Amino acid sequence: MDQYIIKGGNPLVGEVEIGGAKNAALAILATAIMTDETVTIENLPDVRDINVMLDAIEGIGGVVDRVDSHTVKINGSMISNLTVAYEYIKKIRASYYLLGALLGKYKKAEVALPGGCDIGSRPIDLHLKGFRALGANVDIHHGLISASAETLKGTHIYLDKVSVGATINIMMTAAMAEGKTTIENAAKEPHVVDVANCLNSMGANIRGAGTDVIRISGVEKLHKTDYFIIPDQIEAGTFMFAAAATRGDITVKNVIPKHLEATTAKLLEVGCEIEELDDAVRVVASKPLHHTQVTTLPYPGFPTDMQPQMSVILAISEGTSTITESIFENRFKYVDELSRMGANIKVESNIAIITGIEKYTGARVSAPDLRAGAALVIAGLAAEGITIVDDIYYIERGYENFHLKLASLGAQIEKVATEKEIQKFTLKVS
Ligand code: EPZ
Repeated sequence: MDQYIIKGGNPLVGEVEIGGAKNAALAILATAIMTDETVTIENLPDVRDINVMLDAIEGIGGVVDRVDSHTVKINGSMISNLTVAYEYIKKIRASYYLLGALLGKYKKAEVALPGGCDIGSRPIDLHLKGFRALGANVDIHHGLISASAETLKGTHIYLDKVSVGATINIMMTAAMAEGKTTIENAAKEPHVVDVANCLNSMGANIRGAGTDVIRISGVEKLHKTDYFIIPDQIEAGTFMFAAAATRGDITVKNVIPKHLEATTAKLLEVGCEIEELDDAVRVVASKPLHHTQVTTLPYPGFPTDMQPQMSVILAISEGTSTITESIFENRFKYVDELSRMGANIKVESNIAIITGIEKYTGARVSAPDLRAGAALVIAGLAAEGITIVDDIYYIERGYENFHLKLASLGAQIEKVATEKEIQKFTLKVS
């Protein structure tokens, strides 16, 4: 299995282009099958999760034309199979967006029930509550969710919890229901807004995305569009934190600074300097970092997808910090790996108490999930000596050319697959 090998200690300096938002793209790919006309989607990140979603769309009969690694044309007119196979849900939970899309368009859909994952049980009860509220019969048998409706009727839906997935899935179905739907306590993430904007460019009538009340007037048909995905706020935040951890100076380009406000605020709190431009943010970390307190919250709060990266910089900041994970129940698994690099972190329920140390020491660690994997790479970049990160396929699910972008900023990092390559790298950097 591929690994990253890293010789830490270099401050990362330079500019890095940020790609399209994975979590917007996964849902927008699903909306593309809701019309029988051809939809062109640009600025797709070329990452494993996106490729699995495109396979799932082909698996139900959608026509997928990969124009280039960041552009795809999708035509949903030939869809013949309304059952999304378990193999796709097993690979990416977000293939459940096809349930909302197919139900909205065909009033019928079947998708395997997603299991738990590395960061928590992740139920989808709110998604199903929304579909039922719109008039669908939803049954679960043999691990398969079957949803069908004579007609879908707009209604008022209150989400007991703020849920990105439920907000997006229900919004897609309601876009083609009869009448008006209101979603209260909706998620406000930028990718929710991006999906609503894409649907509206296809002829939907969605207002209020980005606030906690989304109002939808259903339409009978949707039409073609050519849509450009927003930049990935988590990829941007990950590189911004890499600047902080390595005392570097990084400018992330092709970003929307407003989407990064919570991330930027925390970097200022720990002592970094920030410069905001129209579509770029520069992070300079010349001084020692110091402690702070963080709680992960739905947008515009501090994103849970930046929580592991936050731990990595706080563990080498002066003083004692705390991180409270309020979204997922099991998102501190990486702490054991980080402790092997010298971190001093104690996890009590959903709070991590972090006592800053001088410096990490390189070690062999394993990525437990996508964002924690990226965080361990950042720790390796800041560490003294050599770090090897195993299970990097997790990281490649959501970061395009991660090691190449880091190397372009001055990191000594390579992707290796054999002991021989590890020895070669070790000799080269020693
Ligand atoms: C999306 O997951 C993202 N994934 C996650 O990013 C992200 O961490 C999460 O939103 C929060 O921002 C994609 O967009 C593909 P939720 P999602 O529904 O939609 C509970 C990454 O690293 N809940 O907002 O599954 C749930 O258990 C990934 O890119 C229910 O109880 O998250 C959680 O505690 C990791 N019932 C909370 O709500 C439901 O029906 C928020 O989950 C749905 C969710």
